[in-house]
Amino acid sequence: MFITFEGIDGSGKSTISKLIFDKLQKEGHKVILTREPGGDVIAEKLRKFILDTDNKDIKPWTEVLLYIAARKQHVDTKIKKALCEGNIVICDRFMDSTTAYQGFGRGLDIYKIDELQKYILEDNIPDLTIFFDINADQVLTRIKKRNETKDRLEEEGISFQKNVYQGYKKLIEKYPDRIKRVDATRSIDQVVNDTFEIINKKIKG
Ligand code: ADP
Ligand code: TYD
Repeated sequence: MFITFEGIDGSGKSTISKLIFDKLQKEGHKVILTREPGGDVIAEKLRKFILDTDNKDIKPWTEVLLYIAARKQHVDTKIKKALCEGNIVICDRFMDSTTAYQGFGRGLDIYKIDELQKYILEDNIPDLTIFFDINADQVLTRIKKRNETKDRLEEEGISFQKNVYQGYKKLIEKYPDRIKRVDATRSIDQVVNDTFEIINKKIKG
């Protein structure tokens, strides 16, 4: 089973994905945790390049192609194999991030992005996507607390994150069977429980 976690920056994806990974392992499931952009050696190199604040001149469609290139590499070297070997794959961000950030965030043609991803990813799409629902204003305090240097996308600012958030909302409407929403404003324990319940339901069919 292929599960992806989505949400705006600071929505809690990496925190919750680690906790869910541990919980699934403890319950005896074969599971791997991976992330995008990145996930394999080459894709992690692409990640560095894409997020480098020196690369401000990357054009919007170049950015789309770089994210999709990293994704294709990740799918072909890691995700497909792990799924074939019977693992649950948890991926922190995947194709919906490109639609939300490059499509809705940057205002690029959603149809073109969808067609590109369909063509490149074929049937390697998630069985389940969890959207961590917390908006840009609510997340701001968390990001400030994190006290890290910002990457190139995080430097885009709050109005960009607001567009991305609205984009995710549209994606939930479009794919209600695949994308499930979790209230990410609640405590870490509550978010983990809600997420786990959705995953368990899917596992048990
Ligand atoms: P993301 O991977 O989506 O960018 P993180 O997991 O890095 O988000 O979380 C951003 C910050 O918010 C971290 O400092 C994390 O500890 C904190 N955090 C995550 N989930 C919650 C939550 N439910 N309640 C409070 N703080 C949280
Ligand atoms: P990530 O490390 O997940 O950031 P965070 O932990 O802050 O959520 O992702 C890096 C950045 O890349 C993030 O701002 C989202 C952005 N991104 C895109 O714009 N398009 C994509 O397709 C992906 C996978 C990520």
